[in-house]
Amino acid sequence: MTEHTVEFVGTGERITVAETETILSRCLEEGIAQEYSCRVGMCLACSAEILEGTVTQPAARGLTEAEAERYALTCMARPTSDLKLERGKYPPSIEEDIESANGDTAAADD
Ligand code: FES
Repeated sequence: MTEHTVEFVGTGERITVAETETILSRCLEEGIAQEYSCRVGMCLACSAEILEGTVTQPAARGLTEAEAERYALTCMARPTSDLKLERGKYPPSIEEDIESANGDTAAADD
């Protein structure tokens, strides 16, 4: 079984993940506080930016093809090399949705 090291920048957490398992499932087993919700590649709650390395994530339906090269949906992504990930980083498309939602909320409070 081929395994890879996954390092989370900022926290220094490091785990070993087999190519046959998802990054999220290993995080949960290791007690790492990786956010998630749907666990089926749709909500993007588990997104992380790929700083180094590669993953395979054919079922990450919430990402465009271009986004899937820079972001990993950890509930779907399996490592194909050692990785450096930054958790809590989302593709620009969802960042715009969040900013827009926050703007709406602020306006509603006025
Ligand atoms: S938990 Fe929803 S996309 Fe991963």
